[in-house]
Amino acid sequence: MPVITTIEDLRLLAKARVPRMFYDYADSGSWTESTYRANEHDFRRIQLRQRVAVNMEGRSLRTQMVGQDVAMPVALAPTGLTGMQHADGEILSARAAESLGVPFTLSTMSICSIEDIAAHTKAPFWFQLYVMRDRDFIERLIDRAKAAQCSALMLTLDLQILGQRHKDLKNGLSAPPKLTVANLLNMATKPRWCLGMLGTKRRQFGNIVGHVKGVTEMSSLSTWTAQQFDPRLNWGDVEWIKKRWGGKLVLKGILDPEDARLAVDSGADALIVSNHGGRQLDGAPSSINALPAIVDAVGSQIEVWMDGGIRSGQDVLKAVALGAKGTLIGRPFLYGLGAMGEQGVRTALQIIQKELDLTMAFCGRTDIRQVDKSILLPGTYPTPELFSV
Ligand code: GLV
Repeated sequence: MPVITTIEDLRLLAKARVPRMFYDYADSGSWTESTYRANEHDFRRIQLRQRVAVNMEGRSLRTQMVGQDVAMPVALAPTGLTGMQHADGEILSARAAESLGVPFTLSTMSICSIEDIAAHTKAPFWFQLYVMRDRDFIERLIDRAKAAQCSALMLTLDLQILGQRHKDLKNGLSAPPKLTVANLLNMATKPRWCLGMLGTKRRQFGNIVGHVKGVTEMSSLSTWTAQQFDPRLNWGDVEWIKKRWGGKLVLKGILDPEDARLAVDSGADALIVSNHGGRQLDGAPSSINALPAIVDAVGSQIEVWMDGGIRSGQDVLKAVALGAKGTLIGRPFLYGLGAMGEQGVRTALQIIQKELDLTMAFCGRTDIRQVDKSILLPGTYPTPELFSV
């Protein structure tokens, strides 16, 4: 067993342990994957200012996201099919998040259901909503999230239609996987994963199968998305959903200052600067490059968070320095989960926490809430002008 010290170590282990179609589902972007890659690369360009002889005792990463205390400005992002990276993956990830004091977000497209997470955790979790044509189903989903005492609803705005991901199409992605010769041969090389899956009953989309009229089994994700996700989603729906939900609302998938202003008008509590991990519009800017213009436009009116490309605590610090009040990580925790289950998710969070804490100290700061762009080297970080038209 290798010594795990980085998110990259977890990625390599996950690649060895998770069946190819699910590893590929996580570790890919749409079309040429240029935005997917830019999310990570654009973080690396940003340089930090080292400060010395500053008292570094008594450091704190604690802050709040939508009024909720968090151990650091990091939450687990909603990721589809998490329970296919590892048996019962959403339950294990939610538990790991709870133990580290950070929020967990359950995806609509999860394997474990809303009720499964509520039954296996004590801390309130967040629920991510996709809007489908069947509005009765959406109402029931919102009501189920309320009944489970979810403390925020995260509405995804950038996936009415699915960006084309070549690997998923080539792999014939489905949950559960089809028992083709190629899949069986690949699964035969992943004994831990298979044992876990044989030991759980959770192998289908738990929020959907049995809850949508006529859906008893879902074959291909892309076909189902094309049929069910509502391409007509608009700001009027956001208003309706906000009313129906009545609690904290977070809008995910904002990449342009004009949309950020509409998000403020909608009365949402937070927005997430996000390109869906480079999985939707390939060719869109990286999230970290889009962040400063959005903070500039609406940062005093709404909590601005970001996701996309975070692979270390240093990345979290850079996002916070550029004005993000919170960040979300997707792939880093999925790699941990695929590598080592609940312990792997804890390890991913601990790696990020430690890197964040030490880097903040090297920059001469002791409180994450005091971090701003003065810790960054001018000329190396993106500015709002990138978006001036
Ligand atoms: C779903 O959210 C996906 O990106 O696959």
